[in-house]
Amino acid sequence: MTAPPLDTEALRRRALDALLAARDRTRALTTCVDDRELTAQHSPLMSPLVWDLAHIGNQEEQWLLRTVGGREALRPDIDPIYDAFEHPRAARPSLPLLPPAEAHGYAADVRGRVLDILENSPLEGGSRLTHAGFAFGMIAQHEQQHDETMLITHQLRRGPAALTAPAPPPAPADAALLPAEVLVPGGPFTMGTSTEPWALDNERPGHVRDVAAFFIDTVPVSNGAYARFIEDGGYDDPRWWTEAGWAHIREHGVTAPLFWRRESGDLWLHRRFGVTEPVPPDEPVLHVSWYEADAYARWAGRRLPAEAEWEKAARHDPVTGRSLRYPWGDADPGPGHANLGQRHLRPAPVGSYPEGASPLGVRQLIGDVWEWTASDFLPYPGFAAFPYKEYSEVFFGPECKVLRGGSFAVDQVACRGTFRNWDYPIRRQIFSGFRTARDAQVL
Ligand code: AVJ
Ligand code: FE
Repeated sequence: MTAPPLDTEALRRRALDALLAARDRTRALTTCVDDRELTAQHSPLMSPLVWDLAHIGNQEEQWLLRTVGGREALRPDIDPIYDAFEHPRAARPSLPLLPPAEAHGYAADVRGRVLDILENSPLEGGSRLTHAGFAFGMIAQHEQQHDETMLITHQLRRGPAALTAPAPPPAPADAALLPAEVLVPGGPFTMGTSTEPWALDNERPGHVRDVAAFFIDTVPVSNGAYARFIEDGGYDDPRWWTEAGWAHIREHGVTAPLFWRRESGDLWLHRRFGVTEPVPPDEPVLHVSWYEADAYARWAGRRLPAEAEWEKAARHDPVTGRSLRYPWGDADPGPGHANLGQRHLRPAPVGSYPEGASPLGVRQLIGDVWEWTASDFLPYPGFAAFPYKEYSEVFFGPECKVLRGGSFAVDQVACRGTFRNWDYPIRRQIFSGFRTARDAQVL
């Protein structure tokens, strides 16, 4: 079987647009605060913003300028400083980092040369790295992932708001009329992909999974619903928690989602990008750990969806039996489909984005909040690390849980029905929420 010819000029344009969009966002995130804030450590969980900035440039230099372009190294001396595996985030402020102006200049210098390489690379018939523009897409995704990381740093940063608040997301028209849950019929579906050109190694290969029938929440769990778990004493009752989760919340005094503060009675406030406001009851709950999501689900008499269940709910079209790229079909995300790309700086109320619903009617699977799943981060059958082990392979195992769907802070280049994110079950500075599921009764 021969593959259909690629539209290499469309892919080249797509790669260019993705690289330029990522850089616009990187610039916005790194020019809205002064040099002292760029070099400061706002949380031991995060790098200084200026580390992310030069790391973005350094990854681009290594993959696109040196490996793809075959050009001479520009700054091989700084590779070790920006190697994420050599230095944990907490240690990065004490490294001899490029100062802000130099970091900006370095990233721009690399980018200038890379645009020339993109212009002149064959995107078909060359190496697997350049085929369909993969390496350019990979680096655009890498930059956008660090942009989300930098947005998390902005959220952790104390002091007045630095980011200007955009318009709120559109209000849902029919949220009150939605059924609480949707039945996903049992049977096989295709999980992962072998055809999506810029899918990363852990999304490959596409393979068939048999999934038993289950029910899944139509929308993510809301702040209002989560607050009822708190009011019901959820954080004081070990019945709802795994042993490790219970030990963790006791040791660290966790009693509510990160950034929440009880004002009086049942009035909760939260701080978001430097602004304190009442917690909006109809928004998806945000900044919860896997342990908290798992405990809530058990309290509600339910469970977290397995990763394969989440993907089947998001991609399976029961009419054709085919797996879609996105819940709404194969079209790239538009502003009516999902809340992505930092466009609103907050999740949309639950029940939003009817145009983005899956064929079975599940909403907001893409965008708004990353959704914790029950599953460990493991390779698919036939997985092969590409192009480097440190992206996925070194994280496989029971230590990390999978998150799906992307948040309001994810750009569309790094978001697909097959995209997999992962983190430790204690983490909650990330833009994480969840929805719940249950087995369908077999009578
Ligand atoms: C896929 C979000 C877990 O930020 O640690 C960035 C992405 N990998 N640079 C991370 C990544 C290398 C990664 N996550
Ligand atoms: Fe990185």
